[in-house]
Amino acid sequence: MPPVKIAPSILSADFARLGEEVKAISSAGADWIHVDVMDGHFVPNLTIGPMVVKALRPWSALPFDVHLMVTPADPLVEAFAEAGADILSVHPESGPHLHRTLMRIRALGKKAGVVLNPATPLSSLDHVLDLTDLVLVMSVNPGFGGQSFIESALPKVESIAERALKAGLSIELEVDGGVDAGNAARLASAGATVLVAGTASFKGGPEHYAANIAALKAR
Ligand code: DX5
Ligand code: ZN
Repeated sequence: MPPVKIAPSILSADFARLGEEVKAISSAGADWIHVDVMDGHFVPNLTIGPMVVKALRPWSALPFDVHLMVTPADPLVEAFAEAGADILSVHPESGPHLHRTLMRIRALGKKAGVVLNPATPLSSLDHVLDLTDLVLVMSVNPGFGGQSFIESALPKVESIAERALKAGLSIELEVDGGVDAGNAARLASAGATVLVAGTASFKGGPEHYAANIAALKAR
């Protein structure tokens, strides 16, 4: 089994020094950069838009994994793709036409992800799995960093891993929210291939980033 990838969420970075933070976490062993886009409407928080993603792009060669918590998502997909996103993930609840949104993301040459909230059933994947490069399982309700891990995410990850295997599809399986060194190994054993970690990656400041990421990758 390949080692689990770590995608630090820049929501927990120092926003006054975002470029340097992205550079520092990239050289500390991160695999992807997770960008949480919130619109103050789909979720009760407001974060960053395509202009910030564009400004950050030169600071890292790693894939930018953009998690869209916005409704509607379709009008913003192209702007984020142009700004430098590599992966664009959307919540089925954020728009009426998930199938169309995934097609649109792929047509832009980007990887398409579907995000499942803690209460979103696996059946949301039923007719779109072949259009999906990544499934993102939320292990907190979206909107804020620093929340506690919801344990029911674990069996959900196991079911999706099993389902993808049966379908013969190679899909990245990402978990987001409350991930730390205490649950990372269990998530990887359950089938997660990418772990988002905000608090756990950025805690202690830049001199701790490499150790933080190593602790998340330890098996
Ligand atoms: C929540 C975001 C997460 C979150 C992760 O809406 O999608 O990416 O910021 O932060 P931690 O790792 O602190 O739970
Ligand atoms: Zn996220």
